[in-house]
Amino acid sequence: MSRIEIKTKNRRFPIAQNLYGIFFEDINRAGDGGLYPEMIRNTSFEDSILPHGCVDIENGYAMVSPTGWRDEFNHGEGLSRWVRENETAETPVPGWYCENADMRLDTLDTLNENRKASLKVTFSPDGIIYNTGFYGVPQKKNAGYLFYMFAKADERVVLSIETEDDNHVYSQKEIVIDSIEYKKYEVMLSADGDCENARISLRCKMGGVIKLGFCSMMPLETYQGHGLRMDLVEKLRDLHPSFLRFPGGCIVEGFTRDTVMRFKNTIGPVWERAGHLLMWHYHTSNGLGFHEYLQLCEDLQMEPLYVCNCGMTCQARCSLLLEGEELEEIFQDTLNAIEYATGGTDSKWGRVRAQMGHPEPFKMNYIEIGNENFGNDYEKRYVKFYTEIKKQYPNIQIVANTHMEEHGFPLDIADEHYYNTAEYFAENVGFFDHYDRKGPKIFLGELSVVRGFVGRLYAALGEAAFLIGMERNQDIVELSSYAPLLQNMNFKAWYPNLILFNNNKSFAIPSYYVLKMFGRNRGEYVVESKDTADVLYRPVHGMASLFGKPGLQYKEAKWNGNRVEVTHEIMGEIEAFDGKYRIVSANEQQKEEAKRMNGADTDQILVVFGEEEAVTGTFDIDIYVEEDREIIIGVYSSRIPNGEYVFDETNPPKDWNIENVKPFYWKIVNGISTLSEKPDAKPIALTEEYHTPIEKNAFNHFSYYADGRKIWLSINGQLIHEVSVPGFPSMASVVCDTEAQVIIKAVNMSSKADEIEIHIDCDVESNYQAAVLTGDKEDQNSMDCPQKVRDREKILQGAAKTFVYTAPAYSVNVIKLQKNRRG
Ligand code: AHR
Repeated sequence: MSRIEIKTKNRRFPIAQNLYGIFFEDINRAGDGGLYPEMIRNTSFEDSILPHGCVDIENGYAMVSPTGWRDEFNHGEGLSRWVRENETAETPVPGWYCENADMRLDTLDTLNENRKASLKVTFSPDGIIYNTGFYGVPQKKNAGYLFYMFAKADERVVLSIETEDDNHVYSQKEIVIDSIEYKKYEVMLSADGDCENARISLRCKMGGVIKLGFCSMMPLETYQGHGLRMDLVEKLRDLHPSFLRFPGGCIVEGFTRDTVMRFKNTIGPVWERAGHLLMWHYHTSNGLGFHEYLQLCEDLQMEPLYVCNCGMTCQARCSLLLEGEELEEIFQDTLNAIEYATGGTDSKWGRVRAQMGHPEPFKMNYIEIGNENFGNDYEKRYVKFYTEIKKQYPNIQIVANTHMEEHGFPLDIADEHYYNTAEYFAENVGFFDHYDRKGPKIFLGELSVVRGFVGRLYAALGEAAFLIGMERNQDIVELSSYAPLLQNMNFKAWYPNLILFNNNKSFAIPSYYVLKMFGRNRGEYVVESKDTADVLYRPVHGMASLFGKPGLQYKEAKWNGNRVEVTHEIMGEIEAFDGKYRIVSANEQQKEEAKRMNGADTDQILVVFGEEEAVTGTFDIDIYVEEDREIIIGVYSSRIPNGEYVFDETNPPKDWNIENVKPFYWKIVNGISTLSEKPDAKPIALTEEYHTPIEKNAFNHFSYYADGRKIWLSINGQLIHEVSVPGFPSMASVVCDTEAQVIIKAVNMSSKADEIEIHIDCDVESNYQAAVLTGDKEDQNSMDCPQKVRDREKILQGAAKTFVYTAPAYSVNVIKLQKNRRG
C-alpha cells in the first residue's frame, strides 16, 4: 500500500503553460506519403540522384559523403530492409515502372532551376508507366483526389488509378498534352471503391514521347483544408500539444553542404522547392515546409519551436563546418525564416508569406540553435546566432543544445535528450529535483524508452514516472516532447515512434495515451504533496567482467567457489601464461567493431566471465596491482537489450559489445575504490571513494557477493562497500489543482494493484473521475488491435479527506477530484 499526502493550501508554483508539446521530424517517411499526404513517390524523379559531392559505392547499394559518412542508398530506394520487406522490384527511377516504354532521366532539360531531373518516356503502342506510391496508392470510395503534372509533348495519355493487375480501375481521365514547353495539366479524380495498394498509371495508346517535369496526387480531404493528412493531425490534436518542435532532429543538421535543412527550400509552390536526401535515408520533396508547419501550429494552437541549422552538419556523421560566406548564408536563412513567420507584409519575407495566403503573421516565440550540437565549433556559431537573433527579436526565447551557461554563454532554455530503458526513467523520477533554479529553463526535447519493452505498456509506465518527476519540477522544466513522432509502417528507420501509420490507417503506442492523459489534465498550480511507496529493484543479472589496459594480470577467477573461464572477449583478448592470465590488445576485427561503436576505446579491454542468468553469487579473483593501473571489475555483466534503432544494417551492433554490456563498475586505482554505473556517457557514483589497504606489485584478492538487491565488495578479505542495487518507487505521483479540481497523476510500476491511501487537506465530492491506462507489462497496440492499451475513463465514488484509490497493477492514473467548496 502506498500513500499520498496532499496540501492544496500550499501551492508550490503555477504550471508551465507549454509543458507538453510534440516534436516532428521527417524520419521513417513521416513527411511525404505521411503527414504530407503526397501519393506519388518520387514526384520529381530525383530520388536516385546523389547529393552533390557524394559518391556511390558497392554498386549503388551505399554512398559516401565527402567527409566520409556512409549510408545505405540502394539507387535511391533507401534502406535495404525496406527494399526487402516491401519486395520492391528493381527500377532505375525509384517509385516508377514501365511496360512497353522506356524511361530515362534527363538532367539538363528540367522544369526549373531547382529540379535536378525530368523523366523522358518513350511509349511503344499501348505503353504504360506507373507509380506505386508509398507501398501502394490508397483509394477511398467517393473521395476526391487532385492529380497534376508538368509535361511537354504532343500526345494523349490516359491517367488511371488502378489495381496492379489492371483488374479494377478506380478512376480514369484522358489528358491531352499539347505544349512544347512544360505546362501544368490538372485533373480531379473520384474513387469508385476502397483500396490500399493501387497504382497511378499513364498510358499512351498510340505510342509517343513525353517529358515529365514534376507530378503529384493528393487527397482533397485534408485537416482544415490545409493539406495535411486528416487522421494523423487528429491524433496530434488529441494530445493537446502546446508547441511543435520542427523540422528535426538530425535532418536539420544534414551530412553535406546541400543536405543541410534550409528554410528557403521549403516555401513556394512545391514543384519549385529544392528537395534533398534526408539523413534518414530518403529524399524529401519539402512539400511539408516552413509554412505548412506554421499553419499546423495555428490550426492546433501550438507555439512553433523552429530548429535551425547552426552552420555545421551532424557531428555524429563526420561533421562538416560551414565558415565564411557559407556560414553567413545559413545564418541569413534563419533570419529570413523568422521574418517570414513574424514580419509585416511590408517586409520582404512577410510579403512572401502573404502570397502564400497568410497575410497575418504567425507566432514565433522559440528558436533552437542547432540540434544535438556541442563543443567549441558549436559555441562559436551559437554565439553569433544568439546575439543577432536576440538583437532583432528580443522576445524570442533561445533554446541551446547544451548547457551553454556552464561555458559562460547566454541562453534561455537548454534542450536535453534522453533515450533509455523504462527502469532508467522510473529510477530518475527525482532527476530535476536538484536543478539550479537560477539556471536556464529546461526543454526535455527528445525522450523515449528505446531498450527493453520498446513500444509496450511498461515503457509507457517508465516514461510516465519520469514525466511525473518533470511535472513536480515544472518551475524549471518548461517544455517536453516524445521522440520520434511518426512512422510509416513500411519504412522503419527508427523504432519506437509514437504513431504508426500505413496508407489509410494509423494507431498509437501506449506512450501516446500517457501523453494524452497528461497533456489534457494540467491543472493550474502544482501543489505540495508527498508520496510513500515500496522500492522495486532494477532487474539485474549476469556474472562478472574485467576491464583493463593490456598487461593486466589475474588468476584464480571463481564463481561460487568454482573456477570460471572468460566467455566473451569484447575489446581484446586473454592469454594464458605460467598458470596466470593476461589481457592483451584488441585484434583487427575487434578494433573495427570498436570503431563502429562510436569510436570505443580499444585500449580498455573488456572480458566477461560466465553467462548472464546468475543473480545471486560470489565472484573471487586475484589481480596483480601496479602503480597507476586502473582495475575495473564489472558486477552484473549481462547485455542490456539491443536498441531497436539500427542505423546501418550491414553492420548491426553485435549482441555482446561494449554498448550493450553495462555492469556496475567497481574501480580500484592507487588504493582508491568506488562503485559506479554508466547508463550514459557520464558515470554515476554509487559509493563514496574508499582508501583501501592494497599491496602494490603483488596479487591482491578481490571478491564480491551480490543477491539482486545488494552488492558487498571486499579486498583481501576486508569488506569495502555494501551497496544497494538502484531501484525506484513502485508508485510515483504529482498533484496539481485549480479552483475547482484536484488532479492527481499516479503511476503504479508494480505487478500488483496498489491501494493508495490518499490524504488531502480540503473537502472533496465523493463522486470522482479517473482516467486509467493499464494492462500486461508487455502489452502493445497494433494495426489489428489499435486500442488494446488506451486510457479508459471511470466514474468512481468514495473520495474524501482520507480515502483509498486502487491503482491497478502496471497502471497510469489521472484522478480528478472535485473540490467541495462548502467544506
Ligand atoms: O529522434 C530521432 C533522433 O534522435 C533525432 O533526429 C536526433 O535529434 C536524436 O539523436
